[in-house]
Amino acid sequence: MNTKIIRLSTLLTLVSAIIFSKADASGLKAHPGSPSCRFLPGDKLWPSTHEWQQLNTSISGRLISTVPLGSVCHDPTFDAETCAALAQSWTFPQAHFVHPSSFMSAYHQNASCNPYTPKASPCLLGNTVPYVINVTSAEDVIAGLKFAQEKNVRLVIKNTGHDYLGKSTGKGAVSLWTHNLKSIEFLNYTSAAYTGPAMKIGAGVQAFEAYEAAAAKGLKVVGGECITVGLAGGFTQGGGHSLLSSKHGLGADQALEWEVVTANGTLVTASPTNNSDLYWALSGGGGGSYGVVLSLTTKAYPDGIVGGASIATQFSSVDDDTLWDLVSFFQSTALPGIVDAGAHVQWALLGPIFVITEVTIPDATESDIRGALKQLTGYLSERNISFQLNVTSLPNYLVHMERYLGPFPYGQYPVEQLQGGIMVSRETVKKNSTELTAVLRNIVTKTGFYLAPYSLNVSRPPGSPNAVLPAWRDALTYYTVIQNWNFTVPFSEMDEQERLLTEEIMPPLQEFASGAYMNEADFKNPKWREEFYGENFEKLKEIKKKWDPQDLFYATTAVGSDAWKVAADGRLCRV
Ligand SMILES: Cc1cc2nc3c(=O)[nH]c(=O)nc-3n(C[C@H](O)[C@H](O)[C@H](O)COP(=O)(O)OP(=O)(O)OC[C@H]3O[C@@H](n4cnc5c(N)ncnc54)[C@H](O)[C@@H]3O)c2cc1C
Ligand SMILES: *[C@@H]1O[C@H](CO)[C@@H](O)[C@H](O)[C@H]1NC(C)=O
Ligand SMILES: *[C@@H]1O[C@H](CO)[C@@H](O)[C@H](O)[C@H]1NC(C)=O
Ligand SMILES: *[C@@H]1O[C@H](CO)[C@@H](O)[C@H](O)[C@H]1NC(C)=O
Ligand SMILES: *[C@@H]1O[C@H](CO)[C@@H](O)[C@H](O)[C@H]1NC(C)=O
Ligand SMILES: *[C@@H]1O[C@H](CO)[C@@H](O)[C@H](O)[C@H]1NC(C)=O
Ligand SMILES: *[C@@H]1O[C@H](CO)[C@@H](O)[C@H](O)[C@H]1NC(C)=O
Ligand SMILES: *[C@@H]1O[C@H](CO)[C@@H](O)[C@H](O)[C@H]1NC(C)=O
Ligand SMILES: *[C@@H]1O[C@H](CO)[C@@H](O)[C@H](O)[C@H]1NC(C)=O
Ligand SMILES: *[C@@H]1O[C@H](CO)[C@@H](O)[C@H](O)[C@H]1NC(C)=O
Ligand SMILES: *[C@@H]1O[C@H](CO)[C@@H](O)[C@H](O)[C@H]1NC(C)=O
Ligand SMILES: *[C@@H]1O[C@H](CO)[C@@H](O)[C@H](O)[C@H]1NC(C)=O
Repeated sequence: MNTKIIRLSTLLTLVSAIIFSKADASGLKAHPGSPSCRFLPGDKLWPSTHEWQQLNTSISGRLISTVPLGSVCHDPTFDAETCAALAQSWTFPQAHFVHPSSFMSAYHQNASCNPYTPKASPCLLGNTVPYVINVTSAEDVIAGLKFAQEKNVRLVIKNTGHDYLGKSTGKGAVSLWTHNLKSIEFLNYTSAAYTGPAMKIGAGVQAFEAYEAAAAKGLKVVGGECITVGLAGGFTQGGGHSLLSSKHGLGADQALEWEVVTANGTLVTASPTNNSDLYWALSGGGGGSYGVVLSLTTKAYPDGIVGGASIATQFSSVDDDTLWDLVSFFQSTALPGIVDAGAHVQWALLGPIFVITEVTIPDATESDIRGALKQLTGYLSERNISFQLNVTSLPNYLVHMERYLGPFPYGQYPVEQLQGGIMVSRETVKKNSTELTAVLRNIVTKTGFYLAPYSLNVSRPPGSPNAVLPAWRDALTYYTVIQNWNFTVPFSEMDEQERLLTEEIMPPLQEFASGAYMNEADFKNPKWREEFYGENFEKLKEIKKKWDPQDLFYATTAVGSDAWKVAADGRLCRV
């Protein structure tokens, strides 16, 4: 079984961009020195070196004065060899998540200090945080919260820095870096809502670590496709879709309890019965907004065989209309049955290519998989569309992940991209497949963007109520709209592509949307309140007001973020 499969990641790196130019710069006026705005380095009232030192002493020397990751590529700290290696690894997560201040959203990086701009151009902090607390305990967090509040310094929480919307960074901020909270403990959990195996993980545990630890105990847990994403951070707090989700639900549906430090510096446990409003908000209501999570206790499931498949079609022989008829048939007619068989399906549309990079059905044999795909393969055969189908049934979830999304530990997921996305309900896909397919066709053939949709059935209500966007429950497919970042063109050209995404590409797609996944969406989406949070928005705002009355926690498009505005110079100011 040494077959090579087509990986989504391989496809994603194939694609290049259509480029335009024109810069955009707008924003509100900053009020330096006014308490209605957070201070920035250089302000008269920015904390003194002595004050930072006092903070450092109070947390046993865990304060880091940051050096941007890209500084090795710029004078006067240029180092040819290190820089060349960094230029190779920059588009992969592992370059960034091990670093205290680095993050992955290329738009928010703003080319202020990357390996691709001239050596002679200065390395600027830009949107990178100047100070990081390397968190090991609740005390570290409490000291950071207190300092930020008293000194009027912006605060951010960073775990891995994966966030596409730039939520894990902020200009002039002190960052609570949770990456090193790596504890893992297994429990037989008992509560009114759930009795069974569970895993209690520190906030810094990444999916690959959780999968490996669980497999060693004969268990599996619900985590993301990109195996370096954190489990307890943005993933579970934002909803969290997984290869296991059609069988076991979303990440947030697995949450049993959270240990969290709240804005006023109190360590609390949030569960369905204790601080239940906070539990509800943290389980799906978005990362970086209600408190600083130290640990998550999540359900675990007995491990076992996992069925899988990938399909590639050979289109040299068919015309475009045949291809798009197939797409329409696939999404409206074949997919509902496939996901109802317990499958998660990752597929892609890139120019003239339609490919299914991964089908996952827990507990399925090869014959179960072939059965689930029969309607699709029958369609292809009837129309003489040649295709290649690879089917697997591997001994456990870890081996399946390794095969489709490995290699462990880090996988090969490129991350630097422009990103938009919408959720479409089963009913709409069925009713409007022709119109929807026409919009998809237009995107992949006429813009520099491509589509990497995934399909699932997470209709089953969670064991305890949570703040997962209700639209997930009848969603069939999530359509992500992507353009790989091109670091060789001027930033202004990528900014124009971002404008194109928000203003021209997304609106026709949004006609079909029942919502959008807050973690995989356009950060400039003007409809973020209704699309990311839906009917939960007002309740989340009330919970936010109770637990964070001063709006200490800010992140782009997070609940409560509309209390603030980022000015043209990057300064955070109260609205
Ligand atoms: C390549 C790639 C693949 C992905 N695949 C999937 C996938 O398969 N399924 C899926 O659901 N999502 C996926 N995502 C999206 C992912 O879930 C989000 O980017 C998520 O926000 C990452 O969480 P993090 O904690 O690892 O990252 P970070 O960027 O560090 O944090 C994300 C957000 O959570 C907040 N946060 C982090 N830690 C804490 C904490 N301890 N307490 C409170 N707030 C915290 C941050 O402030 C920020 O707002 C993918 C993203 C990438 C880049
Ligand atoms: C199926 O396996 C073959 C043989 O390893 C490989 O060449 C091909 O790319 C695979 N196809 C898909 C769709 O994964
Ligand atoms: C980036 O853009 C340049 C100029 O248009 C182009 O030559 C190059 O192929 C692009 N690179 C990628 C990775 O798309
Ligand atoms: C904090 O203290 C530690 C240990 O004394 C030191 O290594 C570190 O540089 C200090 N951080 C700052 C920002 O001064
Ligand atoms: C990017 O940096 C420039 C200055 O080099 C600044 O004017 C602009 O506002 C920044 N944009 C973002 C999105 O941070
Ligand atoms: C952060 O703290 C961890 C745990 O003490 C330590 O292993 C690591 O070296 C620290 N990282 C940095 C960059 O200081
Ligand atoms: C949980 O219970 C099972 C079955 O009794 C037992 O084998 C296992 O060791 C227990 N796990 C823990 C972490 O206590
Ligand atoms: C509820 O939370 C409090 C602290 O907020 C804690 O002391 C208590 O043990 C928790 N109770 C349960 C059942 O988790
Ligand atoms: C498919 O190919 C077979 C045999 O070559 C042929 O008889 C049949 O008409 C073709 N069907 C279509 C839909 O083209
Ligand atoms: C979806 O289909 C309905 C019924 O046919 C139609 O009225 C509606 O305009 C379609 N919506 C879109 C966005 O095309
Ligand atoms: C989705 O899966 C659930 C089981 O989790 C099943 O009851 C339901 O019929 C499936 N289909 C739809 C449309 O929800
Ligand atoms: C912190 O905030 C919570 C929620 O408003 C409140 O119940 C608690 O009493 C506060 N604790 C302190 C020490 O102020």
